[in-house]
Amino acid sequence: MSFLSIADLTGGYGQMTILNSVNLSLEKGEIGVIVGPNGAGKSTLLKAMFGLVNVTGGTITIEDEDITRLPPDRFASRRIAFVPQEYNIFPTLTVNENLEMGAYSRSDDFSAIMEHVYDIFPPLRDKRDQVAGELSGGQRQMVAVGRALMIEPRLLLLDEPTAGLSPMFMSEIFDRVIAVNRTGVTIVMVEQNAKQALAIATTGFVLANGANAFTDTGKNLLANPEVAKSFLGG
Ligand SMILES: Nc1ncnc2c1ncn2[C@@H]1O[C@H](COP(=O)(O)OP(=O)(O)O)[C@@H](O)[C@H]1O
Ligand SMILES: [Mg+2]
Repeated sequence: MSFLSIADLTGGYGQMTILNSVNLSLEKGEIGVIVGPNGAGKSTLLKAMFGLVNVTGGTITIEDEDITRLPPDRFASRRIAFVPQEYNIFPTLTVNENLEMGAYSRSDDFSAIMEHVYDIFPPLRDKRDQVAGELSGGQRQMVAVGRALMIEPRLLLLDEPTAGLSPMFMSEIFDRVIAVNRTGVTIVMVEQNAKQALAIATTGFVLANGANAFTDTGKNLLANPEVAKSFLGG
């Protein structure tokens, strides 16, 4: 079985079904990228992986543990971290305090991992005592991802980490995502900047109407004329 296996996942909000029998598998160390039109269910799929969606069918397993319907507060101990698209930092706390919040579930000495986060995001080191809400959009995303790294995740879920960023910050965030991945973290990332995101994906998943439309290597999806025409703006 794969490191992460989502099989025939169906679910949504209350009685409303959004995801229809979705499949997604990744091996350890991959970067999986989910793209698709607005409202396709990308965020819902990510939230479902973190216990935030009413799952009515199918299974989610990680390293052979069934985590379907696991309550959200049980994910830190399983070293699964989720960075939602919005409200993902504490704007009135400093950068350093945000990282400490990320470690709230730890009772050990996490100073080394905090240094590791500052190594991955050098701009944050200089701003560690600055209030996070005062940082640029790109740096706020770094805080959000850095906070998630404080549990030393084996799986990191990122919902549109480059939303609203200039092209320069977008590339920088994608570079940092690759850097995190190289430290051994498997990543599932939802992205609107589909071309750039698929370029760094080992496996890409195109979702449409709550269902799988295409699954292939990032490279093959980018080269697929059907995908380009319908989902990548030609
Ligand atoms: N909390 C919610 N309650 C009810 N419906 C929701 C909620 N969040 C999203 N939806 C609906 O679920 C569908 C998929 O949304 P979403 O997963 O956010 O799409 P995407 O991330 O692909 O843009 C949309 O029709 C949206 O309106
Ligand atoms: Mg979304």
